[in-house]
Amino acid sequence: MSEPNPHPDPHPDPAPNPHPAPNSHPHPHPDPKPRHGRAPSFRHGQAPGAWPLLGHLPYLATRPLAFLDSLPGHGDVVRVRMGTRTAHVVSHPALVRRVLTDRGSFDRSGALYEKVRALLGNGLATCPNAEHRDQRRVLQPAFHPSLMGRYAAVMTAEAQALTAPWRSGAVVDVTEEAFRLTTAVAVRTLFSAGITPRAAEELREALEVLLRGVYTRVVAPAVDRVPSPSRRRYQRALARWRTGVAAIVASYRATGVDHGDALSLLLAVRDEHGRSLSDAELGDQVATLVLAGAETTSSVVAWALRLLADRPEATARLHEELDEVLPGRPVSPDDLPRLPYTGDVVREALRLYPPAWAVTRTTTRETELAGRPLPPGSTVICCLYLLQRRQDLFPDAARFDPGRWTAGEVPRDAWLPFGLGATKCVGDVFGTVEATLAIAAIASRWRLTPVSPRPPRPVPRIVLSPGPQPMRLAER
Ligand code: HEM
Repeated sequence: MSEPNPHPDPHPDPAPNPHPAPNSHPHPHPDPKPRHGRAPSFRHGQAPGAWPLLGHLPYLATRPLAFLDSLPGHGDVVRVRMGTRTAHVVSHPALVRRVLTDRGSFDRSGALYEKVRALLGNGLATCPNAEHRDQRRVLQPAFHPSLMGRYAAVMTAEAQALTAPWRSGAVVDVTEEAFRLTTAVAVRTLFSAGITPRAAEELREALEVLLRGVYTRVVAPAVDRVPSPSRRRYQRALARWRTGVAAIVASYRATGVDHGDALSLLLAVRDEHGRSLSDAELGDQVATLVLAGAETTSSVVAWALRLLADRPEATARLHEELDEVLPGRPVSPDDLPRLPYTGDVVREALRLYPPAWAVTRTTTRETELAGRPLPPGSTVICCLYLLQRRQDLFPDAARFDPGRWTAGEVPRDAWLPFGLGATKCVGDVFGTVEATLAIAAIASRWRLTPVSPRPPRPVPRIVLSPGPQPMRLAER
């Protein structure tokens, strides 16, 4: 097996991106760099209004975005109370880079990761630094650019299947529809064989219940102590998911056929002693992939549709591109190079509503952050949501403006929806291609109007989800 690159820049983007990915440039030094010769000076502060015992959790639960938007006013490093624990929220590009790339001091450990690991296993997205290199080596081949064409074919087929039953005048919840799409794509790209359409749909349904249930169990583990319909539903889904995956793995092992999908690749992996992954390890990796990939991508699709509906000039520009490239026919993966504006719509939605809005780390040793000492065990939250909306870095930062991408208005160290460094998203191209194809498939045929003009009420979860978004369909 070849030596893995500990900082893989996953792949050149096969999607048309006239703009170099701002976060794909290697940066040799983890420490903040002075931008103009002087070391930046950072402001420290504390979020006001903490409740006894609960700290700032009530704000995060009820008005998460308004609360987050208030934080930059208090400094570059803002102390926030999560219950009785303190977290340090950073949103300055130099500090985010430092925390995400200084892996000797900042690890993916702590209560949140332990809970997710307990629920879904120890896969690539949740494993601590010590195991990360080996785990990345196992999963990286499943994202090789040579496989992207096959995955993209599944994505377009599923997008067509999703919209086939849509009718003019009907109302659909785009958040649910997008989630249905990405869970279906996850199941079909992971296991392309040995599974009937009915079994695939059953697995997808189980997955939906699990992904929604994991967050509840992370923030409120007590839900599993009392019998309730939701506990039964979650446990049934977990059992169905585990049995379903085990049956597919057994059938792949029995036939030994390479189906050219992600599971075949995982089954073929051998370590330096020739050992293959156990069934439990395979289960963990499969769960990780769907956990990390499905709701992140569906959330950006749902946000993009809503942002477009509120910005008619961007919608008109999108329609112009789609009408020219796809005159009355469905999108195919080969169209991607001719859909740059559609790609910019996705990139701009990722800027305003990064699904991974808060990337958390715990200090593993005494260190310093922005010139102040930080003891081991401290929680640091890199808030990508705040970073990507900084007024000092983006003109008219809160405005949804896909045109800023061609206007060169996106500083490369301030657009990091896929993270940075060794743990940068392994599925960044997969997610971007999937969202771009979904937007093209939907917007080329449908105009969507929100049923309510009120802004969406984001649901605070691991992923920054827009919450239910009923929209009325009109065929174009
Ligand atoms: C638009 C969609 C997506 C966004 C915004 C996103 C965002 C991120 C971010 C910010 C990280 C870094 C987390 C950290 O450093 O702790 C990450 C890691 C990861 N993502 Fe994604 N992701 C997306 C789609 C996907 C997809 C489609 C997949 C798989 C099919 C995926 C699989 C992973 C995995 C396995 C990791 C862990 C990588 C590692 O630790 O080496 N993601 N993602």
